[in-house]
Amino acid sequence: MSRADRHFSASADDHNRSANLSIHEVSDPARRIVLRGGLGALAGGLFAPWLAGCASPGGGAAALGFTAVPPSTADALRLPPGYAAEVLARWGDPVGLAAGMPSFREDAGNSAAEQALQFGMHHDGMQFYPLGDGSDHGLLAINHEYTDDGLLHPDGLAPWTADKVKKAQAAVGLSVCELRLQGGRWQLVRPSRYARRTTMATPFAIGGPAAGHPLMRTAADPQGRTVLGTMANCASGRTPWGTYLSGEENFHFLFGGGDNPTADQRRWGLVRTAWYRWAEHDERFDVRRHPNEFHRFGWVVELDPMDPTSTPVKRTALGRAMHEGAWVAVTRDGRAVVYSGEDAAFEYLYKFVSRDRIRPGGAKPNADLLDHGTLYVARFDGDGSGRWLPLVHGQGPLTAANGFADQGEVVIKTRQASDLLGATKMDRPEWLAIDPRSGEVYCTLTNNDRRGAPGQLGVDAANPRANNTMGHVIRWKDDGDFDGRSLRWNHLVLAGDAQQPRPEARGNIKGDAFACPDGLAFDPAGRLWICTDVGPRALNQGEMAALGNNQLLACDVASGEVRRFLTGPAGCEITGPAFTPDGRTLFINIQHPGETAGERNDPLQPRRVSNWPDFSPTGRPRSATVAIRRRDGGVVGS
Ligand code: FEO
Ligand code: CA
Ligand code: CA
Ligand code: CA
Repeated sequence: MSRADRHFSASADDHNRSANLSIHEVSDPARRIVLRGGLGALAGGLFAPWLAGCASPGGGAAALGFTAVPPSTADALRLPPGYAAEVLARWGDPVGLAAGMPSFREDAGNSAAEQALQFGMHHDGMQFYPLGDGSDHGLLAINHEYTDDGLLHPDGLAPWTADKVKKAQAAVGLSVCELRLQGGRWQLVRPSRYARRTTMATPFAIGGPAAGHPLMRTAADPQGRTVLGTMANCASGRTPWGTYLSGEENFHFLFGGGDNPTADQRRWGLVRTAWYRWAEHDERFDVRRHPNEFHRFGWVVELDPMDPTSTPVKRTALGRAMHEGAWVAVTRDGRAVVYSGEDAAFEYLYKFVSRDRIRPGGAKPNADLLDHGTLYVARFDGDGSGRWLPLVHGQGPLTAANGFADQGEVVIKTRQASDLLGATKMDRPEWLAIDPRSGEVYCTLTNNDRRGAPGQLGVDAANPRANNTMGHVIRWKDDGDFDGRSLRWNHLVLAGDAQQPRPEARGNIKGDAFACPDGLAFDPAGRLWICTDVGPRALNQGEMAALGNNQLLACDVASGEVRRFLTGPAGCEITGPAFTPDGRTLFINIQHPGETAGERNDPLQPRRVSNWPDFSPTGRPRSATVAIRRRDGGVVGS
């Protein structure tokens, strides 16, 4: 199996063999949810009556005002008329650290030390942080999800060396860069006092109930309070106090030594043969030698992008999971609620409610806010209601007798705890987004083709397709406020071909068809932006043939209209959507252009699919951040 295949199939691995009952009731996706209770407050958000599911005429400020682009299989980024894109931050470009700004070598010949000063590989989630009060100067914090080692080194994977492991470990993690809008064009500020990279050598503190836990202690860290590095960082969130949240998703692929896994390691998807070969030259990632290192990933990490000297923290109170990302709402009385999910077939959706209120003054007064609170996992019932089930030690089955010595063990084994509580096993929860007007939470469920397989769970109300190759989007509203213990839910859309004969299976949506929703974000005016991630084995084939390359669409959730905004280069995934506060710039990431289902040991093979964005005959495709603006400077999407 190729590295590409491994990445894409990984999340579809069925690690969850617990015996939770499935609901076995098919929902009525056209059902309208009845508005109940008060509306919660999002920091800085606007409030309006709940519009979801209502085909209300017009979308007000959120209406779609651009010309849809057609599907495309071209190796090009295609935008509506009147829009322009600039490539800003490619893999290998210097981030602007004062320590050095080595240029990218197009044969991938940069050393590990140089890579640590450059943007990493395969950008994913991203957030914009204004400097000052405008939308023309700010920071971008960016996740670098994984490496394609075939592309990362001049000669690909063979021979596999310690230096290649070091370079891969310098190409993952996070980047912070500074950028400024001048004359209608964004430019990186380099050097910048804000510029930062985290690599697998960067210390991260451990906060919350797993800090210092015996299961977190290693030979190199006998206190269990400091981990070197974050990796597998997929989606991201921004806190009201100005920090960056990043989810450690498919961390299990980085560990080797899984030939005789424990039950716990099996539940967490440890594979027999490591898919990334770090363990061959870095024993930290060999679970036979350092089994607890495996527990030190799978967390949401928090970083203060404004302070490059700050130590980022793994927030264990939010639970360990293959977190796609983390998204924050604020209760009416000022507590933080962090929603998250894990992108793996038959895994769960979570929320954390902070014990304390957010304090004014930015990151420092809130340095331990996410270390104290209550973690819940979601159950979606067949009548359109749902419950948030507390993952609290000593409550229900979460006792020492069932293998949970304390709250630290509950959060380290969040999956097993959720199994015992009977939470709903979902079709791969990817991104979430919180509607600033209504307080509804939306979540993409990208696909799951195993639900109907022999011996599997079968459908339930929230996951109603047995062979869900196209994915869907669920949304809910917590009763009362964001800390509500119950909820009402329905589907925005079951994705697929607009021409399909069962229009009721498409929720309340009309307009352009898409598949495999992944990235999701509301813009400042309340339009919902949906990124697609059809994997390389399905892209442009079979039932996906008419959909073209992966794309970004905008949805007016008031009218139910979806319109295709852009199509990406060949073999890429669109991700990372982030807006300036004025809505006039949309930043996206083009991830893994040239991705194929085939073997990527040959560094030149991806170039046959895509050579974006440099189109150098001797270069290779590069993931990159792109800034998109209207040529007339207007609001994107309007
Ligand atoms: Fe990294 Fe679930 O996408
Ligand atoms: Ca991705
Ligand atoms: Ca994703
Ligand atoms: Ca995906």
